[in-house]
Amino acid sequence: MGRYTVAVTGASGSVYGMRLAEQLVLGGHEVTFVTTEAGRQVTSYELGFELPVGNAEAAAVALATFLELPSAEGLRVAYFDDLFDAIASGSHRIDGMIVVPASMGFCASVANSLALDLPERAADVCLKERMPLVIVPRETPLSTMHLRNLATLSEIGAIVVPAMPAFYHKPQSIDDLVSFVVGKVLDVLGVEHSLFERWGD
Ligand SMILES: Cc1cc2nc3c(=O)[nH]c(=O)nc-3n(C[C@H](O)[C@H](O)[C@H](O)COP(=O)(O)O)c2cc1C
Repeated sequence: MGRYTVAVTGASGSVYGMRLAEQLVLGGHEVTFVTTEAGRQVTSYELGFELPVGNAEAAAVALATFLELPSAEGLRVAYFDDLFDAIASGSHRIDGMIVVPASMGFCASVANSLALDLPERAADVCLKERMPLVIVPRETPLSTMHLRNLATLSEIGAIVVPAMPAFYHKPQSIDDLVSFVVGKVLDVLGVEHSLFERWGD
């Protein structure tokens, strides 16, 4: 089973990050869950879930409860300002990091290797170590700078999977739209899932 980092930034769509973390843990993978401070606040606003601060173990239990997981096994919470966390180091090997949703500010920072907090540093580490980095940007419309930063991220090795649900699978609910985007993320990582029906199946 794999070891993944799921990072939620302050873009709209924290539900995508939550669903991804849930799917990975249910699939038996190890997940380190981290948010930026803005990500923590937007998650609280959009989903009514406030990640507890100060106690990572309690936070993992709270997150597992919110995700309705049987337990917090396989789930670990890291804090945005903890630059001593394992994911800040290239010697800690992972199978991939997914930034979902990714704010335009985060994309700009990582495109320029600023590494100002743990999520940015962890993404920078993935790029330098050639470990898979999946960025799920969410903004509309996109400015030329946003587009340039996304192009730079793609050029330097990130996989950009925009939060753009499709409609050809005839979604019936918000849940279906979320599942489509999360399924596409799992596809690029080669992680099996049954979140949507494949065209032609
Ligand atoms: C409710 C809400 C929704 C937001 N949605 C977006 C968004 O979709 N995309 C984006 O780039 N920024 C969005 N922002 C702005 C970011 O949260 C802000 O730029 C923040 O500084 C990003 O910080 P971070 O990259 O450290 O998470 C939103 C802010 C709020 C309060």
